[in-house]
Amino acid sequence: MTKNIAISLFFALATVALLGYIWFGQTNQRLAATNNRQLAEQIEFGQRNYEQYCAACHNLDGSGNGPAYPAPALNQLQATKGPGTEAYTTTNGIQKKYGSLRNYIEFTIAYGVRGSPMPAWKANGMRDDQVQAIAAYIMSMQGGAVTQDAQQSAAVWKETEVAKLPPTPTPSIPKPEDPVAAAGYDLFFGAAGCYGCHNVSDKPLAGPGLAGLFGPNGTAAYGTTLPNGEPVNEENVHAWIVNGGGGPDVGPESQDGQNYGPMPARGGQTAQSLPDEDIDKIIAYLKTLER
Ligand code: HEC
Ligand code: HEC
Repeated sequence: MTKNIAISLFFALATVALLGYIWFGQTNQRLAATNNRQLAEQIEFGQRNYEQYCAACHNLDGSGNGPAYPAPALNQLQATKGPGTEAYTTTNGIQKKYGSLRNYIEFTIAYGVRGSPMPAWKANGMRDDQVQAIAAYIMSMQGGAVTQDAQQSAAVWKETEVAKLPPTPTPSIPKPEDPVAAAGYDLFFGAAGCYGCHNVSDKPLAGPGLAGLFGPNGTAAYGTTLPNGEPVNEENVHAWIVNGGGGPDVGPESQDGQNYGPMPARGGQTAQSLPDEDIDKIIAYLKTLER
C-alpha cells in the first residue's frame, strides 16, 4: 500500500518536473525568438534610416564615397577601430573614451565630427531610437557583411517614393508650390545631399545656413556675396555648385563667426556630379528661402 502511494507520488512529482521543464524551455525559446525579432526589426528600421540620411555620403552598402561627398567606409570599422586595434586600445582610444565601438558609432552619429561635413544628427532633430537603430545596422554590416538580399532590397527601396521624402527631422520645412522649386526641394533634402551640410535657416552646419541667399540682405554668413567673393546671382550660384571651393583664407571672411571648410564640387563627370538641370531646380528652390 505505502509502496503504491510512493510510486504515485514519484510519478506525480516527475510529471510536475517534466511539465515545468517543458514550460521553462518554451518560455526561453519564445523569449529568444522575441529578442531576435526585435533585433531584426531594429536593424531593418536602422537600414531604412541609413539609406535616407547616410547613404548619400557613406554609400548604400557602407563602403564609403557616396554620391554627395567622399566620406569614409563604415563597413570595416570593426577591423579598423574595433577591439584589438590601436585606435581602440591606445591610451586615449575608443575604449577609454566611449567604452565600446557601438557607443563610439552612436556618439558620432548624434554629435557629428567637428569641422567636417559629418553632421551632428541630434541637433538636426534625429531621435535616440533612430540613432541606436542606425548604429545596430552599422554593426551588422561589419566585414562588408551586408547580404546581397539586403543590398537588393535597399536598391529597390531607393527607387520608391518613400525614399524621396525629405528627412523626417524636417517635417515642418514647407515645400514650395511651384513644381520646379518643389523638384529642387526634393533634390536639396534628398539625393543631392545639400541638407547634410546646409540648413535653410541662418543656423550653420558644416556649411552656412542658406536662408535669404537671393534676398536683399543675403545669408547670415556671406551677405549678398558668395564665399569666393562673387555677387549672388543665378549664374554665379550655378558656377559655385559646379565648382565648389572656398574654405579658410579664400574670399571674404564669414560674418557669422564660423570657420567654414571648402564646399565640394558637384559638376564634371564624377560620381558626385549633378546634371545642370538638377542644379537649376535646386537654385529655383534656393530662391524661395527668405530670412
Ligand atoms: C554630408 C556627408 C555625410 C553624411 C550625410 C553623413 N556622414 Fe558620416 N561622415 C562624413 C565624413 C566626411 C566623415 C569623416 C569625418 C572626419 O573624421 O573627418 C564621417 C564620419 C562618420 C563616422 C566615423 C567613421 C570613422 O572612421 O571613425 C561615422 C560612424 C559616421 N560618419 C556615420 C554616419 C551616419 C550613421 C550617418 C547618417 C545618419 C552619416 N554618417 C551621415 C560625412 C557624412
Ligand atoms: C560637404 C558639405 C557640403 C555639401 C554636401 C554642400 N555644401 Fe554648400 N557649402 C559648404 C561649405 C563648407 C560652404 C562655405 C564655404 C566657405 O565658406 O568658404 C558652402 C557654401 C555654399 C553656398 C554659399 C552660401 C553663402 O552664404 O553665400 C551655397 C549657395 C551652397 N553652399 C549651396 C549648396 C548646395 C545647393 C548643395 C547641394 C547640391 C551644397 N551646397 C552641398 C559645404 C557643403
